[in-house]
Amino acid sequence: MRFRPLPTATSSDPDTIPFADPPDSMRAMVIDAPGDPDALRAASVPVPSPVMSELLVRVVGAGVNPIDAKTRAGRGVSGAIAEYPAVLGYDFSGIVVTSPYEAHALPPGTPVFGMTAFPRSGGAYGEYVVVPAQSVARKPSALSHVEAAGVPLAALTAWGLVVETAHAHEGQRVLIHAGSGGVGHFAVQFAAYFGAHVTVTASGRNAPWLRELGASVVIDYTTTRFEEVVAEVDVVIDLVGNVGGDTGSRSLTVLRRGGLYIMVPTGAWPGYAEAAAGAGVRATSYKVIPDGGALATIARLLDSGAVQVYIDRVFDLDEAAAAHREIEDGHTRGKIVLRVSDG
Ligand SMILES: NC(=O)c1ccc[n+]([C@@H]2O[C@H](COP(=O)([O-])OP(=O)(O)OC[C@H]3O[C@@H](n4cnc5c(N)ncnc54)[C@H](OP(=O)(O)O)[C@@H]3O)[C@@H](O)[C@H]2O)c1
Repeated sequence: MRFRPLPTATSSDPDTIPFADPPDSMRAMVIDAPGDPDALRAASVPVPSPVMSELLVRVVGAGVNPIDAKTRAGRGVSGAIAEYPAVLGYDFSGIVVTSPYEAHALPPGTPVFGMTAFPRSGGAYGEYVVVPAQSVARKPSALSHVEAAGVPLAALTAWGLVVETAHAHEGQRVLIHAGSGGVGHFAVQFAAYFGAHVTVTASGRNAPWLRELGASVVIDYTTTRFEEVVAEVDVVIDLVGNVGGDTGSRSLTVLRRGGLYIMVPTGAWPGYAEAAAGAGVRATSYKVIPDGGALATIARLLDSGAVQVYIDRVFDLDEAAAAHREIEDGHTRGKIVLRVSDG
């Protein structure tokens, strides 16, 4: 039987748009070595070539995450950078340019959002990126590319924490530190969606917004020590740790016996496991893994309106240094996104 190719774009599918063959070179923000935010410079670099399990995607928006800044500074996942100049950026929204075979579920022209082969490679701070086909999903149609670019890494982290690790359920008592940040605002919504009773720490200015997202209790960490107002929680999702303070250590005192402490920022509290064992609670670290299947589920929640992404600021690609300064400041509400090209 002869194979009959599927159409890649039809007039009845407004989400797929025509595209031109990719050029040989592209605009990107690169670093030549680890450094401060000004290490980021605009450059013309070759368009990457996909292998057969990958998509080539024209990037419209790129997420800016704390891991980008840590990696740029020589920490984070900088050990995985194989060569310089390097293009950072681990999540994006854009349009498929090439896919592995004619009948692939994400044909050329499809709007997608997803993660790169994190932490092995980045590349979203460039006009074209190659990504594993299994690390992306169709972009939620209710979201612009710039909005969608704020979703993948933060929302997949929140999904992994709330759904896959904490197994959020009706009546479960969850405390989420830094509920107002990129990961936190998704974690609050997922936990509330699955019926958990959600307490968050954040500064007071974010309290009304976090209640709208589903938090039952918001504790202003700038005025109140959370252990004085919350106790006997089942799970702590700690997006802060002991860096510059003792949020992690104090968290162990508010868990019920046998409760679960989840340490998210890698390296933010090396001694958490021993301390948790001493306190009679369970503990685990967590590391996000790109997952197009989970992202497709998250896209459905976004399209239904059950979950929202909040975009705090949008910078142009060549303003990446300013975006890094902002994320390093540590007070983003929701997400920061780079506009890489026209959508
Ligand atoms: N292990 C993994 O796989 C993984 C994945 C993703 C992220 N992470 C890590 O998780 C952390 C959070 O990531 P993110 O993207 O959500 O960061 P983010 O967006 O930069 O978080 C900013 C938020 O943190 C809040 N905040 C700062 N200090 C706080 C404190 N002491 N108590 C409560 N809230 C505080 C700020 O609230 P105010 O403005 O109100 O102060 C702000 O809204 C980062 O360290 C990141 O690297 C790890």
